[in-house]
Amino acid sequence: MSEADASAKLILFGEHAVVYGRPALAIPLPTLRAHVWIRVNDRGEAGHIEIESEHFGASKWLHESSPDDPLAAIVKLSLDELHLTPSEPLLITIHSDIPVGAGLGSGASVSIAIARALARFAGADLTPETASRLAFAVERIHHGSPSGIDNTVIAFEQPVYYIRDRVLQPFTLNSRLHLILADSGARTQTSMAVAGVRSRYQTDPQTYEGYFDQIGQLTDQAYALLQSGDDEPLGGLMTRNHALLRSLGVSSPELDALVDAAIQAGAQGAKLSGAGMGGYMAALVTDALAGHIRRALEQAGGSGLLEVEVGK
Ligand code: PMV
Repeated sequence: MSEADASAKLILFGEHAVVYGRPALAIPLPTLRAHVWIRVNDRGEAGHIEIESEHFGASKWLHESSPDDPLAAIVKLSLDELHLTPSEPLLITIHSDIPVGAGLGSGASVSIAIARALARFAGADLTPETASRLAFAVERIHHGSPSGIDNTVIAFEQPVYYIRDRVLQPFTLNSRLHLILADSGARTQTSMAVAGVRSRYQTDPQTYEGYFDQIGQLTDQAYALLQSGDDEPLGGLMTRNHALLRSLGVSSPELDALVDAAIQAGAQGAKLSGAGMGGYMAALVTDALAGHIRRALEQAGGSGLLEVEVGK
């Protein structure tokens, strides 16, 4: 038997603009994880692999799954990478605490936990680079041009400053961030949100380049603050990033209501996180006001509240 896990992630700055070559900042959320166990199955033929998760009712068998199925894809890619041909039937069990499709990296986290568990099963080492590359290949199946930030931050499990194909800079948070995350309820696939931005960009590239530039500048300012430990102005940058995401057309009335409610209740700043058009938002809060902001988010329709403290 082998066991592995992987964290969730939060994009603090720069989603969407990162697809167009601007920088983004993301942090792992170590207390929110996907777990995977691999054991020899007591049913099935030699080499057949069964995958079970509470997220889908019946289990599925790898040899019956479509190659487009993300779970089947990560298992196949990992087996190839590890040169592993199981001689017995295997059972892969997935349990994830990460809300699915909500912008917190559930897909990449499950992929990386599976790749790590298979590597352990094979007695092999899997570097963060390899885990990231395998998860990226799966992301590409569903979303033609992923920037790669999700798989990167989760595989390295460290805050990263990221520019697609150019910069992958893990860094240390020199401040402590107290965040409250709230689910807006709606779900939109990342590929849809990215495609929407793409088509609006194509009709007005100049305006959109301007938005991306402004988001990139906020991200750079935030990166400097996070390294220096002077995080006071960080919240304001988050709220400005949210306004620009709204201009890109990836917010929603529900997300805007949550961001407004958090700020009204005293949050230092707030923004949607991830692809948007639903999913989670994040508010940067002080310890003293956290309870008050939680209640305000719930009253504004937020659900699945998560409270995380990261950094020092
Ligand atoms: O919703 P998520 O967590 O998959 O984040 C997507 C982030 C985007 O910048 C919108 C897309 C990408 O590939 O970086």
